[in-house]
Amino acid sequence: MSVPDFGHMPAGYNLLYRETLDSTNEEALRLGQAGEEGPLWVVARRQTAGRGRRGRAWTSPEGNLMTSLLLSLSVTPIVAAQLSFVAGLAVYDMIVELSRGKKNVGLKWPNDVLLADKKIAGILLEASGTANKRMRLIIGIGINLVHYPKDTPYPAASVAAFTGEIHSISQVLPLLAHKFSVRFQEWIYGEGFETTRLAWLERAAGVGEKIEVRLPSTIHKGIFAGLDEQGALMLAQGRGRVCSIPAGDVFFPTPLKRDAL
Ligand code: BTN
Repeated sequence: MSVPDFGHMPAGYNLLYRETLDSTNEEALRLGQAGEEGPLWVVARRQTAGRGRRGRAWTSPEGNLMTSLLLSLSVTPIVAAQLSFVAGLAVYDMIVELSRGKKNVGLKWPNDVLLADKKIAGILLEASGTANKRMRLIIGIGINLVHYPKDTPYPAASVAAFTGEIHSISQVLPLLAHKFSVRFQEWIYGEGFETTRLAWLERAAGVGEKIEVRLPSTIHKGIFAGLDEQGALMLAQGRGRVCSIPAGDVFFPTPLKRDAL
């Protein structure tokens, strides 16, 4: 199969295309360990061992977008973690453009993108160590353009199922890369995490509503009260008690209010 024409990527970002990879995150990790500094988008038509958050597999059939951005930054791990919110906003912006309107697009903590309340994209941020005082960071992004898994704990969907249109990876990747570069600039030159945190919260599903945060051995229930200054989820549990949860999977026990998205 011929190499797709990805058109114009943003200035300063390189692109590596492969027909098949085990995982674009794994390839970016290998490249980072071999000295590549990026910024580099790695994209594959299919993955044989795509991975998701918390050790889960990520179904990666041809037609969906599987990509990873390799960056080298002089930041602490806590600051690096903010990048998953930057990436979530970029995917959100891209999906709004593809679906021609933001009414049904939302963000689900920590970094899922929803279309009509169903998960259509996930983000996996990984690090591959430090070289020359700069941390190699890999932002893996999977977008269900066409296919979606039917047996996930949180319901999934695809862009095509919602819009009726099939978008190719060569159309979508440059759009995503441009949206990312805008959100990345906003993060770099904004007021620390604050600009990104507020932009993310404005687009978040379920703020002020009852949620469940599932961890491997427990479930926390409460009201989604916001994001703290490090991106942890703030859960109000009554009597003025608010706890910060650094990781977990959010579920909405009651249907989301439309204006929550
Ligand atoms: C999630 O669990 O929601 C995160 C999914 C991230 C999947 C993407 S697909 C491209 C990149 N390569 C991988 O192996 N995983 C990420």
